[in-house]
Amino acid sequence: MSIDPNRFLADLHKLREFGASGIGKGVVRPAYSPADIAARKWLAGRMGEAGLEPHFDPVGNLFGLAPGTSLLMGSHSDSQPEGGWLDGALGVIAALEIARSSDQPISVVSFQDEEGRFGVTTGSAVWSGGLPLEQADQLTDGSGITFGAARSAMAELSKGFVEPSRFRGFIEMHIEQGPALDAAGQQIGVVSDIVGIRDMSITFEGQQNHAGTTPMHLRRDAFQALSLFNARLNDRFRNVVTPQTVWTIGRVDLHPNASSIVPGRVRFSMQWRDGDGDRLIRMEEIIRATAQQVADELSMTLSYGPMLGLEPVAMDPILRAALELGAEQVSPENWRGMPSGALHDATNVARLMPVAMLFVPSIDGISHDFAEDTTEDDLIAGLCVLEHAVRALAGRSE
Ligand code: GLV
Ligand code: MN
Ligand code: MN
Repeated sequence: MSIDPNRFLADLHKLREFGASGIGKGVVRPAYSPADIAARKWLAGRMGEAGLEPHFDPVGNLFGLAPGTSLLMGSHSDSQPEGGWLDGALGVIAALEIARSSDQPISVVSFQDEEGRFGVTTGSAVWSGGLPLEQADQLTDGSGITFGAARSAMAELSKGFVEPSRFRGFIEMHIEQGPALDAAGQQIGVVSDIVGIRDMSITFEGQQNHAGTTPMHLRRDAFQALSLFNARLNDRFRNVVTPQTVWTIGRVDLHPNASSIVPGRVRFSMQWRDGDGDRLIRMEEIIRATAQQVADELSMTLSYGPMLGLEPVAMDPILRAALELGAEQVSPENWRGMPSGALHDATNVARLMPVAMLFVPSIDGISHDFAEDTTEDDLIAGLCVLEHAVRALAGRSE
């Protein structure tokens, strides 16, 4: 039996119905939300129909297990708070299509909380042993809910952690989520390596006060502290970063967030990514020194949340070569090798087994937005590359 592109596209659209945003093709399906859990239950049913054994682990990672030793394929099905329909979902549904059409033993996975409602790729980080479960349980989302409390919503489904040694490798297909392939008119990216990341929250605490009566020179204004910190940091990073380095303050909780109150507290996320682990360390030193200096100058108290991070990883040469072979067959001279600036579950899985990744273009390079999309031709081309790669790998083991 060979792959069925129509069945693949139909399942991809079906998955989007869970948490469909109503705007474009967007979805709102954060980890452990009712839409996420409903989607996982539907996926478990589809895995069962494909002859796989559905298996939820204690953190809500969903595996569809083939008997014996198998190749693991998949990604994640949770979304950002405002997410696209393909980020993660594509890799899961493509894996399902390969598993049900291949004569090779293929298991499928949808990892939980890849999008970091609580941590950074939380579900695969716990499964891979990179993040102890007791530590993960203490992590909180933006509204203070703990990972431990959130995962209890799926507790009755859990059958325990899956033994990683039953898998001989992991292949994750994903949208690129950046502009490179689309801008070059290329159809496939074969990933060479995935950047490293650091992520923590920073809090400046000053003095909440009246916005009409408090003289400027007496204020301990938390927003001014954040503003100064941001400007200084951008300036100081200049001598350390490369054009590939990125850093983001993406969430800001300003307290009490009212126009007539000098804000007394600000808690914000600070995230930075680079392919060089030493540069990530140097950037952390600059962040901490700058925050301390701002706190001293503006009479703020300074505190940090837990520091989360993943190191840069290289893809496995054998799995990568199989994807390159497939890319050349499906899209001759219309593919490239490239690094990934987005984080993926493959980073964690690389602790346990060989991993590789495949990209298809994101239209206009948009992702983590309702507008995220990819042409059907490109989605199907990616699926075909996976099929070729699985065949090539089967040839190697015979
Ligand atoms: C994953 O979604 C990431 O933030 O790279
Ligand atoms: Mn993703
Ligand atoms: Mn994402």
